[in-house]
Amino acid sequence: MFDSLVRATLPITPKPLIHFFARKYVAGATLAEAVATVRRLSENGCRATIDVLGESVTERQHAAGAVASYHEVLDAITAGSLAAHVSLKPTQMGLNIDPALCRDNIASVLEHAQRAGIFVRIDMEDAPTTDATLRLYDELIRRFPRATGVVLQARLRRTLVDAAALAEAGANVRLCKGIYLEPRTIAYEERETIRRAYLHALEILLAGRGYVAIATHDELLVCEALAMIRRLGVGPDRFEFQMLLGVDPELRAILTSAGHRLRVYVPFGSHWYPYSVRRLRENPTIARVGLEAFLRGRMES
Ligand code: FDA
Repeated sequence: MFDSLVRATLPITPKPLIHFFARKYVAGATLAEAVATVRRLSENGCRATIDVLGESVTERQHAAGAVASYHEVLDAITAGSLAAHVSLKPTQMGLNIDPALCRDNIASVLEHAQRAGIFVRIDMEDAPTTDATLRLYDELIRRFPRATGVVLQARLRRTLVDAAALAEAGANVRLCKGIYLEPRTIAYEERETIRRAYLHALEILLAGRGYVAIATHDELLVCEALAMIRRLGVGPDRFEFQMLLGVDPELRAILTSAGHRLRVYVPFGSHWYPYSVRRLRENPTIARVGLEAFLRGRMES
């Protein structure tokens, strides 16, 4: 009931309160804070992928601002010899304004990244952008081989077909469940069905020729993925686990202690609001934990 209440009231929850509950998912407002987070993760054996928060850009100058921020991130990774990639969103690069503008903006980031030897992941957003994102990836990977990869969402019904094509092409694919709620006509809705769909897609990707980023905190999926990796004889250079900042550091430690490569998604920046709302909608428990901590702090002080 608490979870439903949190979900229902999110649209009217004051921004400072959202910020209070969701701050563990965001490294901070500045690049310096993101760099400090990446260093802390690195000390604990984790790699990172840095994301400049922002999406659904409608002005060219805002897309240009995002591109400039990514150039700064790439410079910081090089200057600090950080164990980090970057992740970016097509709608932050101008996809909703003009796909050609978006392509040129991502190409500018990729040119820099390829020169610096840094990998760039193109995140996957809601279903109306899936075709355009895969087209962008297809065009960009030809110009910047090995410098970029894409994301597939297990909840989408189309994903098995997309996974087969990308596995065949030897692509670098992050597989996640998918955070955007989509209509039943194009997406699975049941938790167990999404889990099964995830494992079917994972098997296609692991049996293919590419690199697979297994992005989940679902322990059942982690367990099945490890069994699948053994069964298929997939080498450690062909996969990694990925997790979000602020989610289940214990599982993160279990995987790194077992010698697995693990990368943490590190978002930062002033545009934290939509990202935080999605995280809270996905897991309202965090609001309960935050509220308890807040009340404890109040009672103890
Ligand atoms: P599930 O949601 O079932 O979570 C499993 C367990 O993890 C929960 O029981 C809980 O304990 C914990 N947990 C999960 N989310 C939590 C949260 N917010 N707070 C606290 N605990 C939480 N999606 C997308 O559509 N496009 C993308 O490009 C990406 N990119 C991406 C990168 C990386 C590195 C990760 C890990 C995830 C994404 N995602 C994403 C998000 C992804 O689609 C999905 O929504 C989340 O990973 C949650 O799904 P799980 O597989 O973790 O399962």
